[in-house]
Amino acid sequence: MLTNPVTATAHPNIALIKYWGDLNPILHIPANGSISMNLAELFTQTTVSFEQSLEHDQFTLDGKHISGPSLERVSKLLSRVRHRAGIGLYARVESNNNFPTGVGMASSASGFAALTLAATQAAGLELDEKDLYCLARTGSGSACRSIPGGFVEWLAGERDEESYAYSIASSEHWDLVDCIAVVSQDEKLVSSSQGHALANTSLLQASRLADAPRRLDICREAIRQCDFSALAQVAEMDSNLMHAVMITSEPALFYWKPETVRIIQEVQSMHKVDLPVFYTVDAGPNVHVLCEPEVCKEVADTLSQLPGVSQVLQCHPGGPARIENSTI
Ligand code: DP6
Repeated sequence: MLTNPVTATAHPNIALIKYWGDLNPILHIPANGSISMNLAELFTQTTVSFEQSLEHDQFTLDGKHISGPSLERVSKLLSRVRHRAGIGLYARVESNNNFPTGVGMASSASGFAALTLAATQAAGLELDEKDLYCLARTGSGSACRSIPGGFVEWLAGERDEESYAYSIASSEHWDLVDCIAVVSQDEKLVSSSQGHALANTSLLQASRLADAPRRLDICREAIRQCDFSALAQVAEMDSNLMHAVMITSEPALFYWKPETVRIIQEVQSMHKVDLPVFYTVDAGPNVHVLCEPEVCKEVADTLSQLPGVSQVLQCHPGGPARIENSTI
C-alpha cells in the first residue's frame, strides 16, 4: 500500500518579538509569546508519502539523505501523525529549501510547517487549524508561526492546546521589506533547541520574560496601525534582549560575528539620517534589516558593500503554508 504523495510549501518567518526559552521543552511550549512576519521569497517544499515497502522513515533534504538527530526529529513528528491517523506505515519525506539551512534563517520553521501540512494530508487526517499549529509546534516551536499567513502571533499558553498561532494581519496589510545581510552560510554550532535549554541560566531571562507582554502589545498594535517607528523600536529592543540573555547564559552563547556588529552599526547610522529601517538578529550571525519599500534598494546596496556580506536577500511579507497537490 502507498498513500498518494502530498506536497506542501511553507515560508520561514522572521521573529519581531522573539521566542527564547521553553516552559515545556518536549512539547515546545514557549516561556513567552512571539510575533513574526513570513518571508515570501524564501520557502521549503516538502513531499510526503507513507509506503508499505519502507522499514523506517526516509528523509532527504536538498537531495542529501539525512540520518541521526535530524531524522529522529522528523520521525517524531511523523509518529505523532501516524498515532492520530491510526496508520503504521513509514514515510518517505523529500524536502528542499531555496535558501541556506541552519544559519539562523528559520529553516526549521518552514521545514516543520511544510512537513506537518504534507504529512497530515498524506495520512488523510482532518485537523482543525489550531490542532495543525500545535502539531507543527511540537516539531519546531517557531514552525507554528509559518502556517498562518502574513504577520503572525504565537500565543505562549501553558498547555498543549493553548499554545498556537494566528494571523494578526495578512501579507497584503503592510509591505515591509526584510533585507537579509548574509555573512555566513555555515551551520550553527549550537542549535536553537540547545539554546532554549540554556535560557534560564541567564540572570536576565526573568526580566526579559516579565516585560514580554508589554513588548507584544506594542508590536501587535504597531503592525495593526502600520506604525514603523513603534515597530522599529520594540523589535530592536527585543532582539537585543534575547542576545543579552544568550551572551549571559552558562555557558555563554555568541551567535554574532564581527560582521554582525558592523551591520548593526550601519543601521544605527541610517537611523541618524531618519531612514525607516531597523535590525533584528535570530540565532545566527546574519542580520535582518527591515525597511519600507521606498528605501529598500538604497538599504540593500549599502549592506551589500559592507565587508563580509556575501549577499543581501530581499523578502516581502509571505502568505500561509499551502498544499501544492493533493489527489486525496
Ligand atoms: C532565535 O523555533 O528554531 O529564531 O523549537 O527548538 O526548534 P525549536 O526552536 P526554534 O527557535 C527559534 C528561535 C529564534 C527566535 C524566534 O524565531 O522566535
